[in-house]
Amino acid sequence: MCGIVGYIGSQEAFPILIKGLKQLEYRGYDSAGIALISESKKLNIYKTKGKVIHLEEETQNRDKSGNVGIAHTRWATHGEPSVVNAHPHISMSGELTLVHNGIIENYALLKEQLIEKGYTFKSTTDTEVLVQLIDYYYQKNGKKLTKAVCKALNDVIGAYAIVVLETNNPGHLVAARKSSPLVVGVGQDQKDYYIASDATPIVAYTKKVVYLEDGQIADITPNKEIEIINLEEKSMNVDIHEVNLDISKLSKGGFDHFMLKEIYDQPQCLKDCMRGRLFVDEENPCNNRIVLSALTNFKDRLLQAKHIIIVACGTSWHAGLIGKQLIEKFCRIRVEVEYASEFRYRDPVIEKDDVIIAISQSGETADTLAAIQLAKEHGALIFGIVNAVGSSIAREADTGIYIHVGPEIGVASTKAFTGQVNVLTLLALALGHEIGTLPDDQYRQNIAELSLIPSKIQEVLQQNEKIKRISTYFTYARNFLYLGRGFNYPVALEGALKLKEISYIHAEGYPAAEMKHGPIALVDQEMPIIFIATHHKLYQKIISNMEEVKSRKGRILAIVTEGDEDVKKIANETIEIPQTLNFLIPLLTVIPLQLLSYHVAVARGLNVDMPRNLAKSVTVE
Ligand code: G6P
Repeated sequence: MCGIVGYIGSQEAFPILIKGLKQLEYRGYDSAGIALISESKKLNIYKTKGKVIHLEEETQNRDKSGNVGIAHTRWATHGEPSVVNAHPHISMSGELTLVHNGIIENYALLKEQLIEKGYTFKSTTDTEVLVQLIDYYYQKNGKKLTKAVCKALNDVIGAYAIVVLETNNPGHLVAARKSSPLVVGVGQDQKDYYIASDATPIVAYTKKVVYLEDGQIADITPNKEIEIINLEEKSMNVDIHEVNLDISKLSKGGFDHFMLKEIYDQPQCLKDCMRGRLFVDEENPCNNRIVLSALTNFKDRLLQAKHIIIVACGTSWHAGLIGKQLIEKFCRIRVEVEYASEFRYRDPVIEKDDVIIAISQSGETADTLAAIQLAKEHGALIFGIVNAVGSSIAREADTGIYIHVGPEIGVASTKAFTGQVNVLTLLALALGHEIGTLPDDQYRQNIAELSLIPSKIQEVLQQNEKIKRISTYFTYARNFLYLGRGFNYPVALEGALKLKEISYIHAEGYPAAEMKHGPIALVDQEMPIIFIATHHKLYQKIISNMEEVKSRKGRILAIVTEGDEDVKKIANETIEIPQTLNFLIPLLTVIPLQLLSYHVAVARGLNVDMPRNLAKSVTVE
């Protein structure tokens, strides 16, 4: 979703801005633009529909000088992707230029009011309305930009992260945020400042960052401390944080796509995720244990919880469905899993001793953030399961567990999913043991088995070539069905989502037994059906479902436990996964489904890492 980069200081701004935009490409976008003020105080704005590389090409022989600038990748919400709708947007007076992430919900009304005041518009965006509104207050308030931004934002309903550039006074930038993330990097001795939607483009220059909070407006001037005010124009404290983001982890590392790299990263990611949390003593398994600081620090609140609500979106929601099964199994606590977007608007019942678990890779998903803000108002404990350190959800949560799988660049989530399931497993086992619902010997055995999962994922990855071969049979398909039961039901949903996201083939996940209540009507010789049919108590029932499909000539690909002979007799193709305990199975069965969707998308010649219309970080509703 839209990305912002800004720079002010003593260096040339253009290379920093372009590099920053490239590092934010993973968020997903459809147009890009840049505004710079040259040494002769001339404002240059360049925009393009399409990729950042086109912007770079188109500006090759143009004036790109200047030590201050703002840049943007746009993911269209109001108005089609086009040059005129791309950011930066300039006010009618030509004095203010702005980039914006988010949505101004009352833009239509504000636009009408501005038109009455004589303002005219070139684009169909909500963003142009905002820059004109700031301009209106700027002209009225003696051209004081920070004041004008503050006044304008008081009129706005919606979400925003903005950076504003003043043509006649290029010595500073004004930035503000509400519900859309914005980070300010503080250069050495405050000589320069870097602004971005997340810390990724900043860490190459500085580790010192300020995370703007909702309702904060920052005045950023080189060689001066950053000044922050709130919407009442009151001065606020500036908290400088240290970020530790490993830039080497942002490259493809020899793989053709980030997604494939991230699939292959999973054994190491899960080891990183469990490091310092899961302890296995092979000689004396009685010492096996899980240590989670969140559980120690909030033990009483967590042990008292009678009800847990998991809120999330997309892939994180699928991880939540697995979390529900884990927590109910091991802790005997009632768990509901909610789409954050529905939960936030339907006046849910939230008690003050409830625990809300928010699951989010980016930590910035607007709906998930709003859901926890609502739950906080009711006094519930907010527990974050987040990947992006220092993100809005991580900061809003009372406590939580980072999944620590490193930056995920591919838009289709892979390693974050297994990281989330891994953390939910740690939490369920540790909490169940504390509560006493998980007996000691089972707790220790489960820990030992969990520690083996990274090497078992490695074994599954060795079947990549076979999965690639199988994928070629399926590139023609227009519909897929994914079926699983128990712990494999959310995996079926996730497998279907992965395929949809990157190959644009319609796919649906279902609990296998529900097939006869509708989806079976679709089955014919054209229809591939993926069964997740590992050994567990419902295995025979799944085999019966497979027979039903086979008798209707459906093409079956089955994910089975190694050594399985029965399914092989029915399915057209099988992929084996190693034996493990049933509750750990999603960490293995999801891997071939990730690889399958990857290879189908590659075979169809699609942009795997940046699929059309999708965004990595969904910071608008
Ligand atoms: C977008 C991404 C998905 C992700 C979902 C939730 O749709 O493309 O991959 O699962 O947002 O994001 P979150 O960062 O909250 O996990």
